[in-house]
Amino acid sequence: MEQYIIKGGNPLVGEVEIGGAKNAALPIISAAIMTDETVTLENLPDVNDVNVLLEAIERIGAQVERVDRHTVKINGSTIGDCSVEYEFIKKIRASYYLLGALLGKYKRAEVPLPGGCNIGSRPIDQHLKGFRAIGAKVEISHGSIIARADHMRGSHVFLDMVSVGATINIMMAASMADGRTIIENAAKEPHVVDVANFLNSMGADIKGAGTDVIRIRGVERFHRSTYSIVPDMIEAGTYMFAAAATKGDVMVKNVIPKHLEAMTAKLEEIGCEVEEFDDAVRVVASKRLTRTHVKTQPYPGYPTDMQPQIGVVLALASGTSIVTESIFENRFKYVDELARMGASVKVEGNTAIIDGVAGFTGARISSPDLRAGAALVVAGLAAEGITIVDDIVYIQRGYEDFEGKLRTLGAEIERVASEKEIQKFKLRVG
Ligand code: UD1
Repeated sequence: MEQYIIKGGNPLVGEVEIGGAKNAALPIISAAIMTDETVTLENLPDVNDVNVLLEAIERIGAQVERVDRHTVKINGSTIGDCSVEYEFIKKIRASYYLLGALLGKYKRAEVPLPGGCNIGSRPIDQHLKGFRAIGAKVEISHGSIIARADHMRGSHVFLDMVSVGATINIMMAASMADGRTIIENAAKEPHVVDVANFLNSMGADIKGAGTDVIRIRGVERFHRSTYSIVPDMIEAGTYMFAAAATKGDVMVKNVIPKHLEAMTAKLEEIGCEVEEFDDAVRVVASKRLTRTHVKTQPYPGYPTDMQPQIGVVLALASGTSIVTESIFENRFKYVDELARMGASVKVEGNTAIIDGVAGFTGARISSPDLRAGAALVVAGLAAEGITIVDDIVYIQRGYEDFEGKLRTLGAEIERVASEKEIQKFKLRVG
């Protein structure tokens, strides 16, 4: 099992390039199989979740050709099987996007029901409600969702809560239904807009993505497209908060600054300087940061995927902060690990009350999930001494070359797989 070993204390300084958004790439790869012509996807992040999904579409018969590390050609004309194996959904929940894609194109799909996961219970009732509204029969049998339709027709879908996954899944299926679908209370995240743009580039007719009403006119077939994935706002945000936690000065490049505004606002509020450029933001933290309150919300609110990262920064800021998690119930698992590094945090229900401490000390900790794991690495970078992070496979699901990018910013971090390598690192850093 691999681990990260970190010697903390260096301010992160320099430039870092952000890759394509994992949460846009996953539905876009799924949607790419909806045409029988070849789709070229560029700026794909080379992360585990993306690679597993590419394998999953190959397994149902699609052709996948790697052009380079970030470019892939997909051809869905050879798909012979509309049922996805449990092995894939177990590794990556978002393979449920194949439901919407297969249902749209072939009017049938079978995907195992995803279970719960580390950040809490994650029902998909809204996805299924949407599929039913546009004419699919959906049943759950032997652990799988089986969706079929003789005829899919446009409809009016009102989501009970703002859901990224449901918005995208329904949008994909409806883009090949007969007539007009309206999704109300839709999610407005940049990755929802990116998927709509990609579908439109293949010939779909989708309007309003990025607002809470999306209008879709179904078309019969899609055609070839070449599309570049939007920059990852969560990867970008993670480096912005890493700069803040280590009192650094980091230029985060290849981003859309507008997508980062909720994070930028919080960083400025607690005392960082944030400078915006056309496609970059620079974060400078030159003094001790101060307390604030933050509540996670759907976009354009403060993202739940950035909650652990701000938690780590506030645990080092002066004063008492309150962090409220309103999207997923189980996103404070990192707090116990952080306590082992000296943080003072009390969790009550969906709220964490954080009393800032002057510094963390390195410890052996483990990564509870993807974003919490990344946040704990940031904590290790800010801590005095050595930190070892276990279970980093979660982090590799969503961050390309995390340790390499951090090293270019001056971090002392290495991926190790044995006690011998740990000793070697310790000897080297002294
Ligand atoms: C996506 C992101 C995840 C991010 C989340 C919120 C991907 C692969 N994952 O997850 O990183 O944290 O958006 O920005 O893109 N809900 C229901 N029923 C449903 C669907 C959702 O009750 O049918 C609830 C969820 O439990 C949650 C809330 O709605 O409380 C929002 O979930 P949703 O936006 O759907 O998250 P995901 O798409 O799963």
